[in-house]
Amino acid sequence: MPGTHMKDQLAGKVAIVTGAGRGIGRGIALVLASRGATVSVSDIDEQAAASVASEISDLGASSSSARVDVTDTGSIAAWVSQAIAEHGAIDICVPNAGVIGAAGFTERKDYSADDWSLTWGINVQGMVNTADAIAPHMKERRSGKIVNIASHGGRAPRGVAEPGRGTVQIPYGVSKAAAIQYTHHLAIELGQFNINVNAVCPGRLWTPMWESIAKNHAALSTDAKGLTPREIFDLNIKASMPLGREQTPEDIGKAVAFLASDDASEITGQALNVNGGAIMS
Ligand SMILES: NC(=O)c1ccc[n+]([C@@H]2O[C@H](COP(=O)([O-])OP(=O)(O)OC[C@H]3O[C@@H](n4cnc5c(N)ncnc54)[C@H](O)[C@@H]3O)[C@@H](O)[C@H]2O)c1
Repeated sequence: MPGTHMKDQLAGKVAIVTGAGRGIGRGIALVLASRGATVSVSDIDEQAAASVASEISDLGASSSSARVDVTDTGSIAAWVSQAIAEHGAIDICVPNAGVIGAAGFTERKDYSADDWSLTWGINVQGMVNTADAIAPHMKERRSGKIVNIASHGGRAPRGVAEPGRGTVQIPYGVSKAAAIQYTHHLAIELGQFNINVNAVCPGRLWTPMWESIAKNHAALSTDAKGLTPREIFDLNIKASMPLGREQTPEDIGKAVAFLASDDASEITGQALNVNGGAIMS
């Protein structure tokens, strides 16, 4: 609608976001709320989810929170039912929860079996579980937006994985490539129900996740000797980002808000890099 203010971009919509107790998920939840949406925040960390929900209430928007482990279909189903009962319907679903690897990731050069099972279980199966839980509701309403949080690391391993750095990041990159492919497939299946399915591929953000990657480089890379994790992150940004700066959770939230809005009603099956140009395909 011409003249719609950004703060009304998602007015009247209800959104649910997984892994939203901190980092990118929190940023997405706050941006969606600031654009007029009611937001139900979930995380495996119940207190973190509750605290983001209360930040949203402080903004004057409606919110709720729940403890959800995206590997547990029962906990997702209970949350979705609760959110529908409390807020009337769900218009927007953002499967965001993700992990870089298993315990000990920062000290390992090569992947473990647990890295594969955790990244697959949370980053891929957890995304599938979340979309599966919401799809029947959206199909019934013949309306909905699903915005998966993938990664530009699912496009190409450049920038973090270099010869000699070991294999520890392979499971994560493969899981994110699967998330992008899943987005394409789901868009084909759900398009007939007027449900848009897209992905946002964040670049590099200084959240606990990237801190783990930088700690891994600090501990194991010969070219990182004497540098702090934050210095390694800054060098990585300078070397790989045409725009020369890191992304913020708010940057990712803005892209999600666009894809979840009526302005993007003809966009589906796309994966949008929000990565300062680090990877261009
Ligand atoms: N930080 C980056 O640079 C970056 C880049 C590209 C993509 N991403 C993706 O963005 C998403 C968020 O990343 P982040 O940087 O905010 O990470 P983060 O580690 O800061 O936050 C992840 C959140 O997910 C939650 N979580 C973990 N396991 C869960 C589970 N089983 N069920 C529910 N919640 C769970 C955690 O409690 C945490 O709140 C992830 O999917 C990540 O892969 C991050």
